[in-house]
Parts: sequence; structure tokens; C-alpha cells
Amino acid sequence: MVAETLALEWDEKYSVGVTVLDHQHQQMFRMINDLVNIIQGVPEKERIGRLLDAIIEYKRVHFATEEGYFKEFNFEGAAEHIWNTKNLMRLLRS
Ligand SMILES: [Fe+2]
Repeated sequence: MVAETLALEWDEKYSVGVTVLDHQHQQMFRMINDLVNIIQGVPEKERIGRLLDAIIEYKRVHFATEEGYFKEFNFEGAAEHIWNTKNLMRLLRS
């Protein structure tokens, strides 16, 4: 029996049309895939903790980058997105 792997695969349909944001989203896909691989292998609490810390830090940087673009382009969904990201960050830190 072959174990199923849960891998996130980037697709151009996820592009937001801003290269730096697409690259950050692709990096998050890789980090989540790394986390899944660790959990599916021999999960080591310390490794998982370090990767989760790295993901949280990367998301913090990413959200700050996104907010800069929201202001620059007067993105009308900014308030809702910011509210959602703040809730996600609170959840990740808990
Ligand atoms: Fe994003």
C-alpha cells in the first residue's frame, strides 16, 4: 500500500498578478508541504515547532507586504482581508 501524500501544488490560477505576492504564496505552499512531510514521516515535536515558528514569521512578513499593496491600489476588500489575517495570526500564535 502506498501512502497518500497531501501536497499543495501551485497553479497559475492562484496568481494575484503581483510577482512578489505570487512568490510569497509559492513559498508558503512549500513551507506547508514541508510541514505535512514532517508530520507524515516521523514527527519530531522540535522540528514541527521550528517550522511552525518559521511559517508564522513568514506569514507576518507576507501580510505586511500585502497590506502595502492594498494601500497602494486602494483594494476594496482590504478591511475584510486584514480582519481575517489578524484572526489567523491570533489562532496560529495560540
Ligand atoms: Fe496572501
